[in-house]
Amino acid sequence: MIKLCPSLMCADFGKFADEVAAMDAAGVNEYHMDIMDGEFVPNFALSWADFAAIRKLTKTPMDAHLMVKKPEIHLPYAYRYGADTIYVHYESGNAEKYLQEIRANGRKAGLAINPATTIEEIKDILPMVDSLMIMRVNPGFAGQSAIPAVEDKIAALASMSNRNFTIKLDGCVGPDIIKKWAAAGVEEFVCGTASGMFGPKRNGRSYKEIVADLNPKGKADA
Ligand code: DX5
Ligand code: ZN
Repeated sequence: MIKLCPSLMCADFGKFADEVAAMDAAGVNEYHMDIMDGEFVPNFALSWADFAAIRKLTKTPMDAHLMVKKPEIHLPYAYRYGADTIYVHYESGNAEKYLQEIRANGRKAGLAINPATTIEEIKDILPMVDSLMIMRVNPGFAGQSAIPAVEDKIAALASMSNRNFTIKLDGCVGPDIIKKWAAAGVEEFVCGTASGMFGPKRNGRSYKEIVADLNPKGKADA
């Protein structure tokens, strides 16, 4: 079973309640919440106030993707507002310490890695990771094109023997990418602009139709 994780920074901010209700009914598996600080990446996305408001609307799991220079400022909010999986970036530094702390707080420990970060760099901390999020774009903005060199890294990580973490792909994840990597054992997919769930590519389709199209088995894993 794969997990489809809509990226809510791509949703209509004026209609979160309706959108989340429709996505829940369509059987999405987890909400992907992009938190930026304007420093680690030159942009801002969802705030912790948005996170708290959306947490009250749904029982569906939520992650927090921390694209921030100082995770220690943000982690208390992620615990307080009920993030189920919390991703710190390897490139923020001190990932080992944060992963340990996230697990100690009873949440799933997520590690996000930029396109340029190698397996060699992260291999020693992989035993502390519950979910590894491989970025297919440099973080900061939705709607970018994928960096082709990342595909070899995904293949190598997906085929690791005795892998005890799940893999999530974020950035320019479209239907073909989901099909290709689900077949190779990748478990989780962040659905933003490229998925057709949001923006012009949506083309008037309902979330039910989109979820059915994106799932290689042709139906929602509700
Ligand atoms: C970008 C964010 C992503 C983004 C993915 O920095 O981390 O979650 O919303 O969306 P698309 O499919 O537009 O790349
Ligand atoms: Zn993200």
